[in-house]
Amino acid sequence: MTQLARGQFGDEFTWGVAHAAYQVEGAWDADGKGPSIWDTFTHRPRTVRDRSNGDVACDFYHRYAGDTALVKRLGFGAQRFSISWPRVLPDGTGRVNRAGLDFYSRVVDACLERGVEPWVTLYHWDLPEALQRRGGWANRDIVDWFGEYVGVVADALGDRVRHWMIFNEPCSFTLVGHLAGQHAPGVRSLRKFLAAVHHVNLAQAAGARVLRDSLDDADVGTTHIVTPSRMLGTTRRHQRAARSLDALLNRAHLEPNFGLGYPIADCPLLRGIRRYQRDGDDKAVLVDWDFIGVQYYTRLLVHPLPVPLLHALPRYGRDFRRYEITATGWEVQPDGLHEALTKVHAYGKVSRIYVTENGAAFPDHLVGDRIHDDRRTAFYRDHLEQVRRAQSDGVPVHGYFCWSLLDNFEWAEGFGPRFGLVYTEFATQRRIIKDSGRWFQEFLAA
Ligand code: FCB
Repeated sequence: MTQLARGQFGDEFTWGVAHAAYQVEGAWDADGKGPSIWDTFTHRPRTVRDRSNGDVACDFYHRYAGDTALVKRLGFGAQRFSISWPRVLPDGTGRVNRAGLDFYSRVVDACLERGVEPWVTLYHWDLPEALQRRGGWANRDIVDWFGEYVGVVADALGDRVRHWMIFNEPCSFTLVGHLAGQHAPGVRSLRKFLAAVHHVNLAQAAGARVLRDSLDDADVGTTHIVTPSRMLGTTRRHQRAARSLDALLNRAHLEPNFGLGYPIADCPLLRGIRRYQRDGDDKAVLVDWDFIGVQYYTRLLVHPLPVPLLHALPRYGRDFRRYEITATGWEVQPDGLHEALTKVHAYGKVSRIYVTENGAAFPDHLVGDRIHDDRRTAFYRDHLEQVRRAQSDGVPVHGYFCWSLLDNFEWAEGFGPRFGLVYTEFATQRRIIKDSGRWFQEFLAA
Protein backbone atom coordinates (compact mmCIF):
# COMPACT_ATOMS: atom_id res chain seq x y z
CA MET A 1 0.00 0.00 0.00
CA THR A 2 1.28 3.48 -0.79
CA GLN A 3 2.01 5.86 2.05
CA LEU A 4 -0.91 8.11 3.01
CA ALA A 5 -0.15 11.69 1.98
CA ARG A 6 -2.10 14.91 2.17
CA GLY A 7 -1.69 15.55 -1.56
CA GLN A 8 -3.68 12.44 -2.46
CA PHE A 9 -6.87 14.03 -1.15
CA GLY A 10 -6.73 16.95 -3.58
CA ASP A 11 -5.54 20.55 -3.31
CA GLU A 12 -8.96 21.92 -2.42
CA PHE A 13 -9.61 19.36 0.31
CA THR A 14 -10.69 20.96 3.62
CA TRP A 15 -8.86 19.75 6.73
CA GLY A 16 -10.50 20.73 9.96
CA VAL A 17 -11.31 20.02 13.58
CA ALA A 18 -14.74 20.16 15.19
CA HIS A 19 -16.24 21.02 18.57
CA ALA A 20 -19.57 22.10 20.02
CA ALA A 21 -20.62 25.00 22.24
CA TYR A 22 -21.86 23.09 25.26
CA GLN A 23 -18.94 20.67 25.21
CA VAL A 24 -16.19 23.31 25.33
CA GLU A 25 -17.40 26.81 26.15
CA GLY A 26 -18.26 26.75 29.84
CA ALA A 27 -19.39 30.23 30.99
CA TRP A 28 -22.82 28.70 31.19
CA ASP A 29 -24.45 31.79 32.70
CA ALA A 30 -21.98 34.51 31.70
CA ASP A 31 -22.78 37.84 30.08
CA GLY A 32 -26.52 37.40 29.77
CA LYS A 33 -26.64 33.83 28.46
CA GLY A 34 -29.88 32.00 29.18
CA PRO A 35 -29.92 28.38 30.36
CA SER A 36 -30.04 25.60 27.80
CA ILE A 37 -31.65 22.19 28.18
CA TRP A 38 -28.15 20.78 28.73
CA ASP A 39 -27.62 23.14 31.68
CA THR A 40 -30.90 22.02 33.21
CA PHE A 41 -30.30 18.36 32.42
CA THR A 42 -26.76 18.15 33.82
CA HIS A 43 -27.77 20.07 36.94
CA ARG A 44 -30.23 17.30 37.72
CA PRO A 45 -28.89 14.38 39.76
CA ARG A 46 -27.84 11.13 38.09
CA THR A 47 -27.96 12.32 34.49
CA VAL A 48 -24.22 12.29 33.80
CA ARG A 49 -22.02 9.27 34.51
CA ASP A 50 -19.35 11.15 36.51
CA ARG A 51 -21.82 13.72 37.90
CA SER A 52 -20.04 16.48 36.02
CA ASN A 53 -21.51 19.20 33.82
CA GLY A 54 -20.49 21.76 31.23
CA ASP A 55 -20.49 24.80 33.54
CA VAL A 56 -16.77 25.31 32.90
CA ALA A 57 -15.84 22.56 30.41
CA CYS A 58 -12.72 23.69 28.48
CA ASP A 59 -13.37 27.36 29.23
CA PHE A 60 -13.30 27.99 25.48
CA TYR A 61 -15.41 31.09 26.14
CA HIS A 62 -12.31 32.75 27.56
CA ARG A 63 -9.61 30.72 25.80
CA TYR A 64 -10.91 30.68 22.23
CA ALA A 65 -8.01 32.72 20.86
CA GLY A 66 -5.38 30.30 22.17
CA ASP A 67 -7.44 27.33 21.01
CA THR A 68 -7.80 28.71 17.51
CA ALA A 69 -4.05 29.32 17.48
CA LEU A 70 -3.69 25.61 18.28
CA VAL A 71 -5.85 24.70 15.28
CA LYS A 72 -3.49 26.71 13.13
CA ARG A 73 -0.41 25.27 14.79
CA LEU A 74 -1.59 21.73 14.06
CA GLY A 75 -1.90 22.72 10.41
CA PHE A 76 -5.67 22.59 9.97
CA GLY A 77 -7.39 25.11 7.73
CA ALA A 78 -10.91 24.94 9.20
CA GLN A 79 -12.55 25.04 12.60
CA ARG A 80 -16.11 23.76 12.98
CA PHE A 81 -17.85 25.14 16.05
CA SER A 82 -21.46 25.59 17.07
CA ILE A 83 -23.45 28.58 18.29
CA SER A 84 -25.33 28.33 21.55
CA TRP A 85 -28.87 29.51 20.82
CA PRO A 86 -29.53 30.68 24.43
CA ARG A 87 -26.29 32.68 24.43
CA VAL A 88 -27.68 34.64 21.51
CA LEU A 89 -31.39 34.62 22.43
CA PRO A 90 -31.65 33.93 26.17
CA ASP A 91 -35.41 33.38 25.95
CA GLY A 92 -35.17 31.52 22.66
CA THR A 93 -37.01 34.26 20.75
CA GLY A 94 -37.29 38.04 20.97
CA ARG A 95 -34.62 39.78 22.99
CA VAL A 96 -31.12 39.48 21.48
CA ASN A 97 -28.11 39.22 23.80
CA ARG A 98 -25.51 41.41 22.12
CA ALA A 99 -22.70 40.12 24.36
CA GLY A 100 -23.42 36.59 23.19
CA LEU A 101 -23.31 37.52 19.53
CA ASP A 102 -20.13 39.53 20.11
CA PHE A 103 -18.47 36.43 21.53
CA TYR A 104 -19.11 34.47 18.33
CA SER A 105 -18.03 37.45 16.30
CA ARG A 106 -14.69 37.38 18.15
CA VAL A 107 -14.34 33.65 17.53
CA VAL A 108 -14.94 34.17 13.82
CA ASP A 109 -12.37 36.96 13.73
CA ALA A 110 -9.85 34.87 15.66
CA CYS A 111 -10.22 32.17 12.99
CA LEU A 112 -9.93 34.55 10.06
CA GLU A 113 -6.92 36.38 11.50
CA ARG A 114 -5.09 33.04 11.58
CA GLY A 115 -6.19 31.91 8.16
CA VAL A 116 -8.56 29.30 9.60
CA GLU A 117 -11.99 29.07 7.94
CA PRO A 118 -14.91 29.19 10.39
CA TRP A 119 -17.53 26.46 9.76
CA VAL A 120 -20.60 27.22 11.82
CA THR A 121 -23.13 24.70 13.13
CA LEU A 122 -26.34 26.44 14.14
CA TYR A 123 -27.65 23.78 16.49
CA HIS A 124 -25.58 21.26 18.38
CA TRP A 125 -28.22 20.18 20.90
CA ASP A 126 -28.34 23.08 23.41
CA LEU A 127 -31.90 24.33 23.04
CA PRO A 128 -32.90 27.34 25.17
CA GLU A 129 -34.60 26.01 28.31
CA ALA A 130 -37.25 28.71 27.84
CA LEU A 131 -38.33 26.97 24.63
CA GLN A 132 -38.31 23.53 26.20
CA ARG A 133 -40.85 24.89 28.68
CA ARG A 134 -43.01 25.69 25.67
CA GLY A 135 -42.73 22.15 24.36
CA GLY A 136 -39.35 22.33 22.63
CA TRP A 137 -38.97 20.26 19.47
CA ALA A 138 -42.34 18.63 20.10
CA ASN A 139 -44.10 21.99 19.52
CA ARG A 140 -44.51 22.87 15.84
CA ASP A 141 -44.00 26.58 16.59
CA ILE A 142 -40.32 25.77 16.95
CA VAL A 143 -39.95 25.86 13.19
CA ASP A 144 -40.57 29.63 13.30
CA TRP A 145 -38.55 30.13 16.50
CA PHE A 146 -35.62 28.40 14.83
CA GLY A 147 -35.97 30.51 11.69
CA GLU A 148 -35.87 33.68 13.78
CA TYR A 149 -32.72 32.52 15.56
CA VAL A 150 -30.98 31.59 12.29
CA GLY A 151 -31.80 35.05 10.92
CA VAL A 152 -30.20 36.75 13.93
CA VAL A 153 -26.99 34.73 13.58
CA ALA A 154 -26.84 35.16 9.80
CA ASP A 155 -27.16 38.95 10.18
CA ALA A 156 -24.37 39.08 12.73
CA LEU A 157 -21.85 36.67 11.17
CA GLY A 158 -22.87 36.28 7.55
CA ASP A 159 -20.45 38.95 6.34
CA ARG A 160 -17.54 36.70 7.41
CA VAL A 161 -18.89 33.14 7.61
CA ARG A 162 -19.49 31.25 4.38
CA HIS A 163 -19.97 27.63 5.50
CA TRP A 164 -23.07 26.77 7.51
CA MET A 165 -24.45 23.56 8.94
CA ILE A 166 -28.02 23.74 10.16
CA PHE A 167 -28.01 20.80 12.59
CA ASN A 168 -25.62 18.46 14.24
CA GLU A 169 -26.87 14.88 13.96
CA PRO A 170 -30.65 15.32 14.23
CA CYS A 171 -31.10 11.62 14.86
CA SER A 172 -28.98 11.77 18.00
CA PHE A 173 -30.96 14.44 19.78
CA THR A 174 -34.40 13.32 18.65
CA LEU A 175 -33.81 9.66 19.46
CA VAL A 176 -31.52 9.82 22.48
CA GLY A 177 -33.12 12.99 23.87
CA HIS A 178 -36.80 12.25 23.27
CA LEU A 179 -37.20 8.46 23.08
CA ALA A 180 -34.34 6.96 25.08
CA GLY A 181 -34.23 9.92 27.49
CA GLN A 182 -30.49 9.61 28.07
CA HIS A 183 -29.71 13.06 26.71
CA ALA A 184 -31.39 16.42 27.28
CA PRO A 185 -34.25 17.08 27.52
CA GLY A 186 -34.45 13.58 29.04
CA VAL A 187 -37.87 12.81 27.57
CA ARG A 188 -39.08 9.24 27.00
CA SER A 189 -42.09 9.45 24.74
CA LEU A 190 -42.76 7.95 21.35
CA ARG A 191 -45.20 10.76 20.54
CA LYS A 192 -42.78 13.53 21.42
CA PHE A 193 -40.01 11.74 19.56
CA LEU A 194 -42.10 11.50 16.38
CA ALA A 195 -43.22 15.12 16.66
CA ALA A 196 -39.60 16.19 17.18
CA VAL A 197 -38.43 14.24 14.13
CA HIS A 198 -40.92 16.00 11.87
CA HIS A 199 -40.39 19.47 13.32
CA VAL A 200 -36.62 19.14 13.12
CA ASN A 201 -36.91 18.17 9.45
CA LEU A 202 -39.11 21.20 8.78
CA ALA A 203 -36.66 23.38 10.73
CA GLN A 204 -33.79 22.14 8.53
CA ALA A 205 -35.62 23.54 5.55
CA ALA A 206 -36.72 26.74 7.31
CA GLY A 207 -33.16 27.41 8.49
CA ALA A 208 -31.72 26.77 5.03
CA ARG A 209 -34.26 29.15 3.48
CA VAL A 210 -33.37 31.92 5.94
CA LEU A 211 -29.66 31.55 5.13
CA ARG A 212 -30.28 31.63 1.38
CA ASP A 213 -32.61 34.62 1.66
CA SER A 214 -30.33 36.69 3.85
CA LEU A 215 -26.88 35.82 2.45
CA ASP A 216 -25.66 35.95 -1.12
CA ASP A 217 -23.18 33.13 -1.28
CA ALA A 218 -23.84 31.02 1.79
CA ASP A 219 -22.64 27.43 1.51
CA VAL A 220 -25.52 25.60 3.17
CA GLY A 221 -25.38 22.09 4.52
CA THR A 222 -26.22 19.98 7.50
CA THR A 223 -24.70 16.98 9.25
CA HIS A 224 -25.96 13.47 9.81
CA ILE A 225 -24.53 10.63 11.81
CA VAL A 226 -24.49 7.62 9.52
CA THR A 227 -24.31 4.31 11.32
CA PRO A 228 -24.35 1.34 9.00
CA SER A 229 -25.23 -1.98 10.56
CA ARG A 230 -23.67 -5.39 10.49
CA MET A 231 -25.93 -8.39 10.92
CA LEU A 232 -25.24 -11.10 13.42
CA GLY A 233 -27.17 -13.64 11.34
CA THR A 234 -28.82 -13.92 7.96
CA THR A 235 -32.40 -14.89 8.75
CA ARG A 236 -35.37 -12.86 7.48
CA ARG A 237 -35.78 -11.51 11.01
CA HIS A 238 -32.23 -10.22 10.98
CA GLN A 239 -32.82 -8.54 7.64
CA ARG A 240 -36.04 -6.94 8.83
CA ALA A 241 -34.36 -5.72 12.00
CA ALA A 242 -31.45 -4.29 10.02
CA ARG A 243 -33.80 -2.45 7.63
CA SER A 244 -35.81 -1.05 10.49
CA LEU A 245 -32.75 0.12 12.38
CA ASP A 246 -31.31 1.70 9.24
CA ALA A 247 -34.58 3.56 8.59
CA LEU A 248 -34.68 4.86 12.15
CA LEU A 249 -31.04 5.85 12.49
CA ASN A 250 -30.00 6.82 9.01
CA ARG A 251 -33.02 7.65 6.89
CA ALA A 252 -35.75 9.35 8.99
CA HIS A 253 -33.91 12.68 8.99
CA LEU A 254 -32.07 12.47 5.70
CA GLU A 255 -34.73 11.39 3.23
CA PRO A 256 -37.60 13.86 3.87
CA ASN A 257 -35.33 16.80 2.97
CA PHE A 258 -34.44 14.98 -0.26
CA GLY A 259 -38.13 14.66 -1.09
CA LEU A 260 -38.31 10.94 -0.36
CA GLY A 261 -40.74 11.06 2.57
CA TYR A 262 -40.46 8.90 5.67
CA PRO A 263 -39.27 5.27 5.47
CA ILE A 264 -42.38 4.04 7.26
CA ALA A 265 -42.64 0.81 5.28
CA ASP A 266 -39.28 -0.30 6.66
CA CYS A 267 -39.80 1.04 10.16
CA PRO A 268 -43.35 0.71 11.52
CA LEU A 269 -42.30 2.65 14.63
CA LEU A 270 -42.39 5.78 12.47
CA ARG A 271 -46.01 5.26 11.44
CA GLY A 272 -47.38 7.73 14.00
CA ILE A 273 -45.45 10.57 12.38
CA ARG A 274 -48.41 11.08 10.03
CA ARG A 275 -50.24 12.68 12.93
CA TYR A 276 -47.81 15.61 12.82
CA GLN A 277 -47.76 16.11 9.05
CA ARG A 278 -49.89 18.86 7.53
CA ASP A 279 -50.82 19.73 3.98
CA GLY A 280 -47.93 21.36 2.24
CA ASP A 281 -45.27 19.84 4.48
CA ASP A 282 -43.99 17.64 1.65
CA LYS A 283 -42.88 20.78 -0.14
CA ALA A 284 -41.93 22.82 2.93
CA VAL A 285 -39.48 20.14 4.03
CA LEU A 286 -37.45 20.08 0.79
CA VAL A 287 -33.87 21.33 0.86
CA ASP A 288 -31.43 21.72 -1.96
CA TRP A 289 -28.28 21.18 0.08
CA ASP A 290 -24.92 22.47 -1.10
CA PHE A 291 -23.31 19.72 0.92
CA ILE A 292 -23.97 17.02 3.48
CA GLY A 293 -21.71 16.39 6.44
CA VAL A 294 -21.34 12.72 7.27
CA GLN A 295 -20.37 11.85 10.84
CA TYR A 296 -19.14 8.37 11.47
CA TYR A 297 -18.00 6.55 14.59
CA THR A 298 -18.90 2.89 14.26
CA ARG A 299 -21.18 0.25 12.81
CA LEU A 300 -23.84 -1.40 14.92
CA LEU A 301 -24.34 -5.08 15.18
CA VAL A 302 -27.94 -6.07 14.50
CA HIS A 303 -29.64 -8.56 16.70
CA PRO A 304 -33.34 -9.12 16.08
CA LEU A 305 -35.20 -8.00 19.16
CA PRO A 306 -38.80 -6.94 19.27
CA VAL A 307 -38.11 -3.27 19.98
CA PRO A 308 -36.07 -1.67 17.18
CA LEU A 309 -34.25 0.66 19.54
CA LEU A 310 -32.82 -2.23 21.48
CA HIS A 311 -30.87 -3.35 18.44
CA ALA A 312 -28.77 -0.30 18.93
CA LEU A 313 -27.75 -0.84 22.51
CA PRO A 314 -23.99 -1.21 22.63
CA ARG A 315 -24.14 -4.35 24.73
CA TYR A 316 -25.67 -6.09 21.76
CA GLY A 317 -23.28 -4.34 19.45
CA ARG A 318 -19.97 -5.58 20.73
CA ASP A 319 -18.09 -8.31 19.04
CA PHE A 320 -14.96 -8.55 21.10
CA ARG A 321 -13.45 -11.30 19.05
CA ARG A 322 -12.95 -9.31 15.91
CA TYR A 323 -12.83 -5.63 16.63
CA GLU A 324 -10.93 -3.21 18.77
CA ILE A 325 -13.24 -1.40 21.21
CA THR A 326 -12.83 2.28 22.10
CA ALA A 327 -13.35 3.87 25.53
CA THR A 328 -16.98 4.58 24.64
CA GLY A 329 -17.53 0.90 23.82
CA TRP A 330 -17.67 1.42 20.07
CA GLU A 331 -16.12 -1.03 17.63
CA VAL A 332 -13.34 0.32 15.43
CA GLN A 333 -14.54 -0.40 11.89
CA PRO A 334 -12.82 1.88 9.39
CA ASP A 335 -14.49 0.40 6.33
CA GLY A 336 -17.84 1.47 7.81
CA LEU A 337 -16.81 5.03 6.92
CA HIS A 338 -16.48 4.03 3.28
CA GLU A 339 -19.91 2.43 3.52
CA ALA A 340 -21.43 5.54 5.14
CA LEU A 341 -20.01 7.87 2.47
CA THR A 342 -21.08 5.58 -0.36
CA LYS A 343 -24.57 5.32 1.11
CA VAL A 344 -25.11 9.09 1.19
CA HIS A 345 -23.59 9.55 -2.27
CA ALA A 346 -25.91 6.87 -3.69
CA TYR A 347 -28.94 9.17 -3.25
CA GLY A 348 -27.49 11.29 -6.04
CA LYS A 349 -28.71 14.44 -4.29
CA VAL A 350 -25.54 16.27 -3.25
CA SER A 351 -22.42 17.18 -5.14
CA ARG A 352 -20.20 17.66 -2.09
CA ILE A 353 -19.82 15.50 1.00
CA TYR A 354 -17.62 16.27 3.99
CA VAL A 355 -16.72 14.05 6.89
CA THR A 356 -17.73 16.57 9.55
CA GLU A 357 -16.89 14.30 12.50
CA ASN A 358 -14.80 11.18 12.96
CA GLY A 359 -12.60 10.26 15.90
CA ALA A 360 -12.22 8.03 18.91
CA ALA A 361 -11.83 8.07 22.68
CA PHE A 362 -9.03 5.99 24.17
CA PRO A 363 -7.61 6.05 27.69
CA ASP A 364 -4.86 8.68 27.51
CA HIS A 365 -1.97 8.81 29.95
CA LEU A 366 0.16 11.83 30.56
CA VAL A 367 3.80 10.69 30.61
CA GLY A 368 5.98 13.68 31.39
CA ASP A 369 4.64 16.16 28.88
CA ARG A 370 3.56 13.63 26.29
CA ILE A 371 0.52 11.52 25.51
CA HIS A 372 1.48 8.54 23.40
CA ASP A 373 -1.93 7.85 21.88
CA ASP A 374 -0.80 5.53 19.09
CA ARG A 375 -4.21 3.86 18.89
CA ARG A 376 -5.84 7.18 18.04
CA THR A 377 -3.24 7.92 15.37
CA ALA A 378 -3.85 4.47 13.86
CA PHE A 379 -7.61 5.10 14.03
CA TYR A 380 -7.24 8.32 12.04
CA ARG A 381 -4.87 6.78 9.51
CA ASP A 382 -7.16 3.82 8.89
CA HIS A 383 -10.23 6.02 8.50
CA LEU A 384 -8.43 8.44 6.17
CA GLU A 385 -7.51 5.46 3.97
CA GLN A 386 -11.24 4.80 3.67
CA VAL A 387 -11.88 8.40 2.67
CA ARG A 388 -9.32 7.95 -0.10
CA ARG A 389 -10.97 4.70 -1.10
CA ALA A 390 -14.34 6.44 -1.31
CA GLN A 391 -12.83 9.23 -3.39
CA SER A 392 -11.34 6.75 -5.84
CA ASP A 393 -14.76 5.14 -6.12
CA GLY A 394 -16.13 8.48 -7.22
CA VAL A 395 -17.66 9.71 -3.95
CA PRO A 396 -17.12 13.51 -3.89
CA VAL A 397 -15.57 13.81 -0.43
CA HIS A 398 -14.25 17.35 -0.10
CA GLY A 399 -13.08 17.55 3.47
CA TYR A 400 -12.48 15.86 6.79
CA PHE A 401 -12.97 17.22 10.32
CA CYS A 402 -11.52 15.43 13.33
CA TRP A 403 -13.61 15.03 16.44
CA SER A 404 -12.22 16.74 18.37
CA LEU A 405 -9.69 19.51 18.86
CA LEU A 406 -9.75 19.15 22.66
CA ASP A 407 -10.80 16.58 25.22
CA ASN A 408 -14.16 17.97 26.30
CA PHE A 409 -17.49 17.29 27.99
CA GLU A 410 -18.84 14.14 26.36
CA TRP A 411 -22.56 14.61 27.15
CA ALA A 412 -24.00 11.92 29.46
CA GLU A 413 -20.55 10.31 29.64
CA GLY A 414 -19.08 13.40 31.29
CA PHE A 415 -15.33 13.99 31.17
CA GLY A 416 -14.37 10.30 31.04
CA PRO A 417 -13.97 9.70 27.31
CA ARG A 418 -11.20 11.80 25.78
CA PHE A 419 -11.60 12.50 22.06
CA GLY A 420 -9.05 15.31 21.61
CA LEU A 421 -5.98 15.66 19.42
CA VAL A 422 -5.05 17.95 22.28
CA TYR A 423 -5.21 16.82 25.90
CA THR A 424 -7.13 19.05 28.29
CA GLU A 425 -5.91 19.03 31.88
CA PHE A 426 -9.25 20.10 33.30
CA ALA A 427 -7.97 21.21 36.72
CA THR A 428 -5.59 23.77 35.21
CA GLN A 429 -7.02 24.15 31.66
CA ARG A 430 -3.54 23.36 30.34
CA ARG A 431 -3.55 22.06 26.73
CA ILE A 432 -1.02 19.42 25.68
CA ILE A 433 -0.73 18.27 22.08
CA LYS A 434 -1.04 14.49 21.93
CA ASP A 435 1.07 12.36 19.63
CA SER A 436 -1.97 12.06 17.33
CA GLY A 437 -2.00 15.87 17.09
CA ARG A 438 1.71 15.79 16.27
CA TRP A 439 1.02 13.17 13.63
CA PHE A 440 -1.51 15.49 11.97
CA GLN A 441 0.96 18.35 12.25
CA GLU A 442 3.51 16.40 10.21
CA PHE A 443 0.96 14.92 7.84
CA LEU A 444 -0.57 18.32 7.06
CA ALA A 445 2.78 20.08 6.75
CA ALA A 446 4.08 17.61 4.16
C1 FCB B 1 -21.15 12.82 18.14
C2 FCB B 1 -21.51 14.21 18.61
C3 FCB B 1 -20.35 14.94 19.24
C4 FCB B 1 -19.53 14.04 20.13
C5 FCB B 1 -19.15 12.79 19.39
C6 FCB B 1 -18.28 11.85 20.18
O1 FCB B 1 -22.28 12.04 18.02
O2 FCB B 1 -21.96 14.97 17.53
O3 FCB B 1 -20.85 16.05 19.93
O4 FCB B 1 -20.21 13.78 21.29
O5 FCB B 1 -20.31 12.11 19.00
